[in-house]
Amino acid sequence: MNVIEHNIKITKAKSSKIENVNWNALGFGKVFSDHIFVVDYINGQWEEGKIIPYSEMAIEPTMCTLHYGQTIFEGLKAYYDINGEINIFRPDKNATRLNNSATRLVMPEFPEEKFLEAISELVAVDKDWIPKERGQALYIRPVMFGSSNFLGVHSSENYKLIIICSPVASYYAAGLKPVSILVSHEYVRAVRGGLGMAKTAANYAASLLAGKEAKAKGFDQVLWLDGVHQEYVDEVGAMNIMFVIGDELVTPTLDQGSILPGVTRETVLALAKEKGIKTSERRIRISEVYDAHERGELKEVFGTGTAAIISPVGKLNYKGREIVINNNEIGPVAHDMYETIVGIQRGETEDTHGWIHKVASI
Ligand SMILES: Cc1ncc(COP(=O)(O)O)c(C=O)c1O
Repeated sequence: MNVIEHNIKITKAKSSKIENVNWNALGFGKVFSDHIFVVDYINGQWEEGKIIPYSEMAIEPTMCTLHYGQTIFEGLKAYYDINGEINIFRPDKNATRLNNSATRLVMPEFPEEKFLEAISELVAVDKDWIPKERGQALYIRPVMFGSSNFLGVHSSENYKLIIICSPVASYYAAGLKPVSILVSHEYVRAVRGGLGMAKTAANYAASLLAGKEAKAKGFDQVLWLDGVHQEYVDEVGAMNIMFVIGDELVTPTLDQGSILPGVTRETVLALAKEKGIKTSERRIRISEVYDAHERGELKEVFGTGTAAIISPVGKLNYKGREIVINNNEIGPVAHDMYETIVGIQRGETEDTHGWIHKVASI
């Protein structure tokens, strides 16, 4: 268990917006808490960060990020556990990934201990915004961007890191319903040597048209193939992807640099190994997935990500060939992983890995 001390300067909001929240219709990313954390990088160093009321932000029309997209972000969650304590799940992993993204986008790293302190203190200040039901959470969104004003393609001199909090509904208010996924063979999200491994806006911008077209055809999400051969499976829009083929849990390897290294992906792989499930991180052709299905060996397909934790895939459609996986029902591995992870986050299951960071009250 990890507990972090608090010592960031706080300016409290004059009044809270919390009375206006409809807790039964939170959805995702629509409601924001009273405070944010803000810190600036100026003259080659990070200033002291502060917690201030959520408010509008003034920017100049030439702020470089609007033009050249030098921006990165993260996503993690805080939960109330069954003992009424506040847990954050593996925030150190998000700190590391933020800094890996920063390096790829030529941005300054933000020290991990300061990142953890900022998140912990912001969550403590806005603790009333953490929903209490199982599956609900306070989503935490750190975003860092170039804040200098200029035109011309080069990296920014100054940067801003902001952390926002948003109470979110359980992804599965209506049960763990499998999603249907269109395998994109027309568009690509990322290529070897590109930005895929970074959590940066460009990757999401690249996905929008494919997402829109998939939705219009009745699919929930897009599965991306590699950008070089368009043959190997990469990942889903905001999730990593896993297959149970025979008795093995298979997921694409990260070594091509085109896939976001998911915290949930790493968690599931670690748990699977502990549970005695054979795991394999390797390149997987989409044709191998279809062949396995034909042989009756494709037992389960599911996505992993902070938003849904585990998202079973019921249907895959590649070039008009549709396959139904596990009768369009959640399979045993996906279900077990979901329950184990939620159990740890909620304090129902012992955290033997040190994955939970406790938020100290202030
Ligand atoms: C492109 C992409 N892949 C995978 C993931 C899953 O990552 P994590 O498990 O850290 O949420 C996300 C979500 O953050 C994502 O946006």
